[in-house]
Amino acid sequence: MSTFNVELKRVVDDSYEIEVGFELEDKLVQDIKLGLAGRVKRFAVITDSTVKELYAGKILEKLHKAGYGADLFSFEAGEKSKTRKTKEQLEDAMLEAGYRRDCCIIAVGGGVVTDIAGFVAGTYGRGVPFINYATTLLAAADASVGGKTAVDTPLATNLIGMFNQPEKVYIDIACWKTLPKNQISSGLAETIKHACLADGKFFDFLSDNMEKLLEIDREACEHIAETNCRIKYEVVMKDERESGLREVLNLGHTVGRAIETVSDYRLLHGEAVAIGLAAEVRLSVKLGHMTEAEAGRVTGLLKRAGLPVEIPDYIDREQLVKKLYTDKKVRDGRLRFVIQNGIGSIVEFKDGVFAAPIEESVAREIIMAM
Ligand SMILES: NC(=O)c1ccc[n+]([C@@H]2O[C@H](COP(=O)([O-])OP(=O)(O)OC[C@H]3O[C@@H](n4cnc5c(N)ncnc54)[C@H](O)[C@@H]3O)[C@@H](O)[C@H]2O)c1
Repeated sequence: MSTFNVELKRVVDDSYEIEVGFELEDKLVQDIKLGLAGRVKRFAVITDSTVKELYAGKILEKLHKAGYGADLFSFEAGEKSKTRKTKEQLEDAMLEAGYRRDCCIIAVGGGVVTDIAGFVAGTYGRGVPFINYATTLLAAADASVGGKTAVDTPLATNLIGMFNQPEKVYIDIACWKTLPKNQISSGLAETIKHACLADGKFFDFLSDNMEKLLEIDREACEHIAETNCRIKYEVVMKDERESGLREVLNLGHTVGRAIETVSDYRLLHGEAVAIGLAAEVRLSVKLGHMTEAEAGRVTGLLKRAGLPVEIPDYIDREQLVKKLYTDKKVRDGRLRFVIQNGIGSIVEFKDGVFAAPIEESVAREIIMAM
């Protein structure tokens, strides 16, 4: 018998740019001409049924005009499409159209599109490059940045996926103008979450500018897009694989993700996160990390952003408590929550540990009271 040692230490440079601006379609094509995707000449534009008509078609046309091969691959808009089945359909369509390893994927859309397209890119031909062109505030605030890609399963959201970093992210604020109001609010939930966990001054900015943001004022929106990126970057850069610090981005998501699934996606992701944040500030007050007044400021801001802060009547509370155990922070069968420390920071329970074990009875009491 013999043993052969496979030495495979890797140094990987996954750095990428995030460009925030207005109407960035031409910039995208220009960057591709300048080598953003290396020598790739063929682009699979992955999008959904709504964004296809609004923006992806336009990008396809510009790619063709610039002399590139490109096709649109779209799926029915909405969270219900974020499945292994849709991934398989996209892959089969790309194979059928002759796409091989020498292609690049461009994800044009919201978080559902960037999550699924990034995952397709990670496994297609064992991996092809991808570019995110984010068209929702939620994708800009969170989903398109940070390298997490995934699909949902019947058990819970985002359970199957991989870390995969894009070549570049475009955040086109002009696209937010066509977003329905509830989608703008949904994106603001992740923005408020970022302020709560990292930046009290940013929380004040949101509070002072909420009306402008809801009207998609260009300057205010650019500021939140840049600040969201900075906050997420500072966390992700220190802990890409979520072994400790990155868990802080899960603020409000323990209850949020569970509600999203139990509501069978009647609630948008950000709406579910808003209810999760409202639950978490109650928990924080109970544990002595926040005052009632601070908790009131958070729920007040969520409401002004047009977000729910109570659990809707149609949600079965017992089912919700059970669903909490599908959260990826659960360790040894125990629930763990990220908890806010006042407004603008997170409680560090032990060195590098940001999620604390919480008894089910405590979580249940809060859920029953909402
Ligand atoms: N990967 C991550 O780190 C991460 C972080 C947060 C959220 N997410 C995921 O993001 C998803 C939610 O993102 P989302 O809210 O962007 O969802 P989404 O992609 O479903 O977009 C929301 C809706 O808006 C439509 N839409 C998109 N752009 C539009 C535009 N400019 N004008 C009009 N309509 C437009 C879409 O067709 C869709 O119906 C969830 O699946 C969530 O799990 C991922």
